[in-house]
Amino acid sequence: MNKEQLMGMARKTLENAYAPYSKFPVGAALLLKDGTVVNGVNVENVSFGATNCAERTAIFTAIANGYKKGDFQAIAVAGDTEDFLPPCSICRQVLAEFCMPDMPVYLTNEKKDILELTLKDLLPYAFTELDM
Ligand code: THU
Repeated sequence: MNKEQLMGMARKTLENAYAPYSKFPVGAALLLKDGTVVNGVNVENVSFGATNCAERTAIFTAIANGYKKGDFQAIAVAGDTEDFLPPCSICRQVLAEFCMPDMPVYLTNEKKDILELTLKDLLPYAFTELDM
């Protein structure tokens, strides 16, 4: 699966976002090393702090389905923003818990350009279990 296909899946899953408060749907597609793709969307709550972002939904769903650290190959994040939509800092920390620093993270914008970064680009000097 290439980055365009993965991003296409992230974009498609946007339709399932539950974002009645922000009206800012986000979709994520998480590629596993076995070729499985796990989707995630933001799931908001009237108590705003209970909201879960698309990236975390995808990671947590994968973990709930038995995937482990090291099983993750790439993630694509889609929204309809003018500039590339970056994962929030909480999602970066959750990604750092389960994914290797060199894992590709694909971002996109409303023009459908794709920016390829690594997790380490997004979260340098991450606090990990190695630091404890
Ligand atoms: N959101 C995500 O799902 N992922 C991000 O990386 C950025 C923010 C969601 C959370 C909330 O539902 C909405 O976007 C506005 O912040």
